[in-house]
Amino acid sequence: MSIGAVVLAAGQGTRMRSALPKVVHTLAGRPMVQWVLDALDGAGVQSTVVVVGHGAETVRGLLPESVGIAVQHEQLGTGHAAQVGLAQLDAACDTVIVACGDTPLLPAGLIARLVAEHRSEPRAATMLTAVVDDAGAYGRVVRGPDGRVARVVEARDAVPAELAIGEYNAGLYVFDRGALADVLERLDSSNAQGEVYLTDAVERIDGAVGALVADDPEAAAGVNDRVDLAACEVALQARLRDALMRGGVTMPDPSAVYVEAGVSVGRDTVLWPGTHLRGATRIGEGCTIGPDVVVTDSVIGDRCSVVSAHLIGADLAEGAQAGPFAYLRPGSRLERGARVGTYVELKNTVLGAGAKVPHLSYVGDATVGEQTNIGAGNITANYDGFRKHRTRIGARVKTGSDCVFVAPVSVGDDAMTGAGSIITDDVPDGALGIARARQSVVEGFTAKAVARAAQAAEEAKGGGA
Ligand code: UD1
Ligand code: MG
Repeated sequence: MSIGAVVLAAGQGTRMRSALPKVVHTLAGRPMVQWVLDALDGAGVQSTVVVVGHGAETVRGLLPESVGIAVQHEQLGTGHAAQVGLAQLDAACDTVIVACGDTPLLPAGLIARLVAEHRSEPRAATMLTAVVDDAGAYGRVVRGPDGRVARVVEARDAVPAELAIGEYNAGLYVFDRGALADVLERLDSSNAQGEVYLTDAVERIDGAVGALVADDPEAAAGVNDRVDLAACEVALQARLRDALMRGGVTMPDPSAVYVEAGVSVGRDTVLWPGTHLRGATRIGEGCTIGPDVVVTDSVIGDRCSVVSAHLIGADLAEGAQAGPFAYLRPGSRLERGARVGTYVELKNTVLGAGAKVPHLSYVGDATVGEQTNIGAGNITANYDGFRKHRTRIGARVKTGSDCVFVAPVSVGDDAMTGAGSIITDDVPDGALGIARARQSVVEGFTAKAVARAAQAAEEAKGGGA
């Protein structure tokens, strides 16, 4: 007995009012449909087909290679979409889950429970339902006098007594394949929307239909507009943060921390408010991150400190520090204990162990050796207007304040540069590079200038008389 899944994702999602197909909108950094695919994977589904249609190329481009794709050229309704998908599903799958691409909160465990429930007795179908006070736009589950599911009525087709029903269709079903294929042939579009409703299969399928009521209605939430999207984001954020906190991460104000799926954070790390962890970000143990930090696709080692900073594609080794007000761009690597301070931008640059760039600097396309100190206001002039060039600064170097390194250029180990120097030539090991005009001193200048000004004023008065 092999389980397959058909994921319906061909609809436009009119209520989203978007140029993008609904299922590609992201939640915690992942396309909506990917959440459904991950949950199906986690529930042990062997083969999945996604039905695409509206914006097919965009949706297809985001799907993993492991899933099959069926194209529903015209969006004639969920029943039609299921039929198009089923035709592409691996013939070995005799049990078929039909899920909607717009239900991103479904946990894998709940899908697995639905499958177990379906198999607990001979059935043609088992559906997931949930109960709330007001089921809004969801399809209502109408039960017969015996308490069994009789049919599903869409909100737009429902009479007031049906609208008062709090139990709704979550849009997740497990079907016996043969029974599903048979009923899909027999569905029609005689309803308020003129669509072929999959929900009609519940009444018309040949065989018993069971239902599992979700303990937590949130798990069954569908996204139809931006308000639903935000509600699902909030729910996913809470899940992701809870998982991190249970793993030993401290968050003094969890609601002010944003985490994307796949981010990992080590224990005893503190995430202060205003921390955003995005993409493929990994953070080690015992770090202090935030307040006000955005970290994207970066790796931060153990015991690092990052405050008021933006990091993208950066890599910090153990004990490194960044901020406040630092911007680390792709290719920035801070070796052990290296430090980047206030109003500093780094790009494609390696700072050796213990090296420091404490204030007001741009260091790009550079290699800085260990224990080197870059003075305040230094700039690597890496671009000659046509190409980028590298600056190499050795170990234990001390650069003066306000130096410009015109790349390509090298400064040797243990060298120094004078404040205000524009370094265009290599500085050997242990040498001082200084490149600025010599200062002149004009003795008694101020008194002479004052006297000259007074005389000019006298002459101007005399001229006016
Ligand atoms: C659907 C159910 C409703 C249920 C709700 C749960 C039907 C008729 N109604 O309503 O009972 O309470 O889900 O969230 O099934 N799609 C296609 N092709 C189509 C039409 C839709 O692939 O021709 C896809 C959409 O992309 C979407 C999913 O099917 O992912 C559901 O469609 P949607 O329009 O959101 O249906 P709901 O009104 O939410
Ligand atoms: Mg929907």
